[in-house]
Amino acid sequence: MDRKLKLELSDFGCKLGGHTGISELMHDLGEALAISPHLLMMGGGNPGRIPALEAVWRRRMTELLAHGDAFERMLAHYDQPRGSPDFIAALVHCLNHQFGWQLTARNVCVTNGSQNSYFFLFNMLAGRAGGRHRKILLPLAPEYIGYADQGLSSDLFVSCRPLIEELDAHTFKYRIDFDALPLGDDLAAICVSRPTNPTGNVLTDAEMRHLAALAKKRGLFFLVDGAYGAPFPNIIFSEVEPFWDEHIILTLSLSKLGLPGTRNGIIIAREDVIEAVSAINAVVSLANGNLGQALVAPLLQSGELLRLSREVIRPYYEQRARQALGWLHAALGDRVDYRLHAAEGALFLWLWLPGLHGTSQELYRRLKARHLLAVSGHHFFYGLNDPRWSHQHECLRLTYSQSEKIVRAGIEILAAELARG
Ligand SMILES: Cc1ncc(COP(=O)(O)O)c(C=O)c1O
Repeated sequence: MDRKLKLELSDFGCKLGGHTGISELMHDLGEALAISPHLLMMGGGNPGRIPALEAVWRRRMTELLAHGDAFERMLAHYDQPRGSPDFIAALVHCLNHQFGWQLTARNVCVTNGSQNSYFFLFNMLAGRAGGRHRKILLPLAPEYIGYADQGLSSDLFVSCRPLIEELDAHTFKYRIDFDALPLGDDLAAICVSRPTNPTGNVLTDAEMRHLAALAKKRGLFFLVDGAYGAPFPNIIFSEVEPFWDEHIILTLSLSKLGLPGTRNGIIIAREDVIEAVSAINAVVSLANGNLGQALVAPLLQSGELLRLSREVIRPYYEQRARQALGWLHAALGDRVDYRLHAAEGALFLWLWLPGLHGTSQELYRRLKARHLLAVSGHHFFYGLNDPRWSHQHECLRLTYSQSEKIVRAGIEILAAELARG
């Protein structure tokens, strides 16, 4: 008789194959966008649909189809694990031209999305090696939920409470508490997202320079996640200085340009880092999806992508953020004790409800029962080890990038649910 086949998961299977915050979020997002249109999606980080940008992608696709056998070649060939040479050349040209950097093609690796980039980077830099266990410092909690479960070893992240600066009665901003940073000898790298997912915070140039100097002094890599950042898609509502140095690993993504379906991330780093990361990419993925690279390369070469980021993408999101903020303030008014994080970039509003009745996860469930999807803030405070800090259970992340109709209806449901206490 055959033995009953039981699924016994390895440590890897348990860690990544079980329930995680990011799997819950992506499940909700997929359900709302593809299966149950009655759900109001203010959960995941799907970019908005911007008609002027969609027209560019349609034009580029037509050009690809019309240009000899470019389309067939794109489909028929595995790319190099490091990325398509044409795309990399165009990116290097664009960044050197724009910022006066001295990059070469050997400083760039393409991946199947920034999510993959971080899985590779975190685990190749930190974790167990030679009897040591090295960690990634996240200097500003809350930080991107998608990192939280990426460590193959446990406790990969260490973080610390931010300072909370109250800007007005209903607006606040997190600041890095440099005096409290746990700068132990067990670190491999410092990592920030800029703009920060989930809060829409943009670390100031001074904070970035301070972190870069700290990292350099201690022989650490400094990972800067520019998924929403400069120079593209440029969802930053102020002028900031992008910078790169030998110890900085800058990551970019095509997703928030409106191309999340093409799955392409970019890593810019010194040559030995790029060698390692592209070797890992070959093992895990063989090669990258090349559609996004083919669509975008000529726009990098010509400068059109930076113009679109400046003139179309940033104003679109800035206007949508201001509008959603206005609706939220009007809906919550003086009836609810609330604060919103200063909206400085990315696709999110971060709502803090001091003294919230129950936890933010319970609020998430109550809202979902009313067909509104948001994300409970507690998922973003990993690495803190500070169970008594109630703030972690008083926040909610709201995405404002879907249609005005959805955002407006969602805010009404939120206000009605909060009014119930
Ligand atoms: C801060 C941040 N980093 C990385 C990613 C991953 O992006 P992708 O894998 O689509 O490039 C996201 C996605 O929302 C993000 O918000």
